[in-house]
Amino acid sequence: MIFINRNNKFPFDFSFDVSKVQINIDSLINISFDKLNALVDCLNQYGFTIVDFGENKIQLDEFLHLKFLFGNPKSHPRADSNGVVPINSFNPLKGHLDSTNSEHLLHTDGSFSSSPGNILALQCNIASKVGGLSIIASAQAAYIHIKEKFPDTYHLVHSKDAIEIKRNSQKTLAPIYDLHNGRSKIRFRFPDGAAEITPSEEVAPIYKELCEFFKNNNNVVTFQLHNNQMLIADNGSIVHGRTKYPESELRDLRRLNLDGNGILNGKVQYGIKLD
Ligand SMILES: [Fe+2]
Repeated sequence: MIFINRNNKFPFDFSFDVSKVQINIDSLINISFDKLNALVDCLNQYGFTIVDFGENKIQLDEFLHLKFLFGNPKSHPRADSNGVVPINSFNPLKGHLDSTNSEHLLHTDGSFSSSPGNILALQCNIASKVGGLSIIASAQAAYIHIKEKFPDTYHLVHSKDAIEIKRNSQKTLAPIYDLHNGRSKIRFRFPDGAAEITPSEEVAPIYKELCEFFKNNNNVVTFQLHNNQMLIADNGSIVHGRTKYPESELRDLRRLNLDGNGILNGKVQYGIKLD
């Protein structure tokens, strides 16, 4: 299979039209090469894609086919035997905002882990009629901003002790932009009540600026993930979150965090490329 080789991610902002990353299919298991190519190209250009199944309710085996494409699930305290994490507020768990209807500020998945998954996939079964909107921001745009704002110290985001992220008994000390072979993957979390964040003294002003950047509506894309849609994202090149929704809503999604070692390994260029 030949895929288009993209040099870098597009640094999008609020004006980005998400219909550009929507792929309409009937089945992921029986996806055509052209559609798969388009899906990979969205990941390589923008860091995310919205796969729309139209009127077809997405069956579990269709969602689990993502493992064939993108590899094994990362372990998670709330995952079932398939590695699938329920995203609803039916059984709220302390320290897990994704099990509540509260606002979930922008973050990368697995930010507490020593090896976060490369792929984040969310399948929407029941969208919220009010609120529960998806929010996405570009790690590439944030990096460009930080580089302009801190021309002498921006490189400290790559240092091994840039940031400590802690939740319950999970804790990790890591770079904010993990640099490897000229590409870099973002790890980010706000101090959101569930997580404690401690940047190093030198990185503190840069982390504060990143928080301001990701709080600014001009820098984020907001959209509704509808019933029968999947969001597939490169966890190291975008940050994502969700607006709050009323307790009465039955919003229900499934999530997989995958290591990237599926058949598309080497086709999807994870993270952002640094100049
Ligand atoms: Fe998340």
